[in-house]
Amino acid sequence: HISYVNGHYVRHARARVHIEDRGFQFADGVYEVFAIRRGRVLDAERHFERLTRSLAALRIPAPMSRAALQMVFAELIRRNNSPANGVLYLQITRGVAPRTHAFPPRAVPTLVATVNSLRPVDPEVLRAGVSVISLPDIRWRRPDIKSVSLLPNVLAKQQALEAGAYEAWLLDDSGMVTEGTASNAWIVTADGDLVTRPADMSILNGITRLVVLELAHRSNIRTVERPFSLAEAKAAKEAFLTGTTSLVKPVIRIDGATIGDGRMGTITAALQAAYLERLE
Ligand code: PDD
Repeated sequence: HISYVNGHYVRHARARVHIEDRGFQFADGVYEVFAIRRGRVLDAERHFERLTRSLAALRIPAPMSRAALQMVFAELIRRNNSPANGVLYLQITRGVAPRTHAFPPRAVPTLVATVNSLRPVDPEVLRAGVSVISLPDIRWRRPDIKSVSLLPNVLAKQQALEAGAYEAWLLDDSGMVTEGTASNAWIVTADGDLVTRPADMSILNGITRLVVLELAHRSNIRTVERPFSLAEAKAAKEAFLTGTTSLVKPVIRIDGATIGDGRMGTITAALQAAYLERLE
């Protein structure tokens, strides 16, 4: 198992960053999670665009060009035996410097990447769906930046697991769903409209979200990007969630209330099938 740390391919067990890395001390960094299929990174360009926006928002200089990153990815995947199914994790922090809040004048960004092979998502879970619980969204006001500051997400996900649910849907101060802890949230209304929150500053604009929006347009499914409330979600005909590691999963219970007839809905099924086909 090989990882990449600041220009070096190293044994994963020996991959290290300094204790005064600002990622460690301040969560002063950003990340991306790429899907690997048949030894190749999927949707690299879209992830790079989001990465560029995240870095710019935090004023961290890009440590290398996209072309160079692509070469590192290819080499790292090759050195990890080109998994058929897996994830590539990339993290860039502002770098190592004596601890003080303001930007250090000469820090060099830290860049680390790992590759992990994964078992494919259980087809039974994709068919039968998952439960979610709702929790207040206590994150900062810029979840659109893919920052490594994920403590509220960690706490909410753990609370969901302990409640026997797969994910937590987070609620803003008006009771509207923002997104999940590591996925975007969707519903289908009684009229058959596909609804998801607009990608403003309150959510991460998921790559899977963008792909599913495209697939919906191509299938002539009417889509509306607007906030929806928890009450509307519970009364929805269908609900599902999307993410690089979650794919397209039906949501069949929210806070214990059954969605629709408790089975994957037709629009969810169509979008899931189109999404899975794209992965082949
Ligand atoms: N999470 N919303 C949040 C808060 C996320 O962390 C993620 C991804 C998504 C979905 O984005 P995408 O479709 O680009 O994966 C939405 C990654 C997978 C993670 O933190 O592991």
